Amino acid sequence: MCGIFAYLNYLTPKKREEILELLVNGLKRLEYRGYDSAGVAVDSAEAKDISIIKKSGKVALLAEEIKNRSDELNMGVTVDVHCGIAHTRWATHGVPNEINSHPQRSDLQNSFVVVHNGIITNYKEVKVFLEKKGHHFESDTDTEIIAKLIYHFHQQHPNFSFRELVEHVVQQLEGAYALCFKSKYFPGECVATRRGSPLLVGIKTRTRLATDHVPILYGKDADSNPEHRPHGRGEFPTLPRTGSTSEFEPLEDKQVEYFFASDASAIIEHTNRVIYFEDDDVAAVKNGLLSIHRIRRAGDDPQKREITTLKMELQQIMKGNYDFFMQKEIFEQPESVINTMRGRLNFENGTVTLGGIKDYIPEIKRCRRLMLIGCGTSYHSAIATRQLLEELTELPVMVELASDFLDRTTPVFRDDVCFFISQSGETADTLMALRYCKLRGALIVGITNTVGSSICRESHCGVHINAGPEIGVASTKAYTSQFISLVMFALVMSEDRLSLRQRRQEIIDGLKNLQNQIRDVLKLDNKVKSLAEDLYKKKSLLIMGRGYNFATCLEGALKVKELTYMHSEGIMAGELKHGPLALVDETMPVMMIIMRDPVYTKCMNALQQVTAREGKPILICEENDKETISYSQKYLEIPRTVDCLQGILTVIPMQLLSFHIAVLKGCNVDCPRNLAKSVTVE
Ligand code: M6R
Repeated sequence: MCGIFAYLNYLTPKKREEILELLVNGLKRLEYRGYDSAGVAVDSAEAKDISIIKKSGKVALLAEEIKNRSDELNMGVTVDVHCGIAHTRWATHGVPNEINSHPQRSDLQNSFVVVHNGIITNYKEVKVFLEKKGHHFESDTDTEIIAKLIYHFHQQHPNFSFRELVEHVVQQLEGAYALCFKSKYFPGECVATRRGSPLLVGIKTRTRLATDHVPILYGKDADSNPEHRPHGRGEFPTLPRTGSTSEFEPLEDKQVEYFFASDASAIIEHTNRVIYFEDDDVAAVKNGLLSIHRIRRAGDDPQKREITTLKMELQQIMKGNYDFFMQKEIFEQPESVINTMRGRLNFENGTVTLGGIKDYIPEIKRCRRLMLIGCGTSYHSAIATRQLLEELTELPVMVELASDFLDRTTPVFRDDVCFFISQSGETADTLMALRYCKLRGALIVGITNTVGSSICRESHCGVHINAGPEIGVASTKAYTSQFISLVMFALVMSEDRLSLRQRRQEIIDGLKNLQNQIRDVLKLDNKVKSLAEDLYKKKSLLIMGRGYNFATCLEGALKVKELTYMHSEGIMAGELKHGPLALVDETMPVMMIIMRDPVYTKCMNALQQVTAREGKPILICEENDKETISYSQKYLEIPRTVDCLQGILTVIPMQLLSFHIAVLKGCNVDCPRNLAKSVTVE
């Protein structure tokens, strides 16, 4: 949770107004990560000190505050070199007020300021230590100890560089963090580091980048090796290559801008050249040069960090003609499902190739069992596809909530194949479960939407779902793309099974038609809206179904809860008579998903049980299914597809319904209360 953004311009003149605007815009892009409060730290108007501006609530309120203080902030002045850090918070320690907002500071003079994403688990011990040394704490945050600790080390070691001070600090910290520091003692410098929380840097130069990587420097060697001194090869930007020789020449044009951020979406409008940091990297910018150091040398750690070119487009992270990101993302599904299949599924000859796991398929076929692990919506995509995976792989398939899986210290074996499903690729519970399974020797397969995310990087192999950036906190298009990715995996696993040829073909045909069928379902939007009008004042909504559509019930209920704050429960229809039926009467809002699949008759039994208790369910059923429709006044007709894909079509009305209820109730659709998009704390 929380979004970090920092901007450093070196020999690139910028008005202070532009810098503040840039920081605020960076935060706006990251707001989905947390929106309890926001803050920035920039050089003070006279550039001798640091000014901190913080505001509880959304980034827009911070922007307003900055505007109100524009005289004091000397907006018109141009600076050649400057570092600003910024933060949008999802509160973990301390209520979301201004004092607890970031940047947190070392002392009343703002000598050191820091922004933090994550949780410091040993902050109480460090706090006691610092209090004994005479430091006075003003906030309830765990982060404040970091600002005070670096100040403490600075007082102890006044000759240490900024980067050395940060290295000392992080060696005292336990927990998860991404951090960006600024100090009045080190003007124009920025130091950033991470462990367990994502962080990357975007690099913008006027000329082409001279190198495609930044070498990693290790501990003391880094300082003593003359090659690694500023302007040497170990720093970025290094000296440009001339012609085809490998000679380095001094840079004439040293203008450079750096953008540190929790997520590439905050950077893409400035540059597409980024470096994703690894845990324990300490990145320092000094005199416009970026160097990356390692606190400790991990055995298998690469010797350099590649500069990656982002494929993302700016328009992908804009709302376009829609009022909300969630709405845009729901309506993007005809395209996003195609992007998930593009280049992988050949509809002509019925072959499926998943490049990211192709080499591991023989090993996967020999495994003892498949384990699908995730949280929230990602977990539901595992539930949605388990039955098909069991059918096409003939392997036992376990589906696990990452948090519960860890709580149980579930036995994992070397011949297990563990899938970690995550839109963000940064969910702490899922990442911890991944590391747990990796330690035990299992094969790790990542199913993620975020290139360069921790889950991507720590997996042995994986499938990128290619849904495009998902900004709305409620997951929609990622779900349908995760679903399809897992279906494609099942198809790959069964490609040489003659007995499954027909089944595979009907699934492939179903996938081919999906885009048009999703378009048809989206046409129900107005009808769904009028159902939302009937429902939005109710207190509860039960969603019932079974078989392939049970996952839709869980996912629909999750959407309703998180977006509308209304109670909602996904109920396995077979369980009705074991308890939930007691909830049903003429006033209880109920939805039932009844498709003409192998459990149709059982679903109809459930429908009768509900109507016999005077329940008046809204039905999601197949187009022209007159018999089923005759049981209710209210229904949504969905096109028919193959049973195992039906859940992709039935979930869309639930996404639309939760969206419309949220709008009618005046809830914040893209940023529901108390939540954040990327849950990087356990
Ligand atoms: O990024 P992930 O897929 O790992 O996130 C997991 C859940 O936090 C996420 O799906 C959450 O449940 C959504 N907000 C639901 O809409």
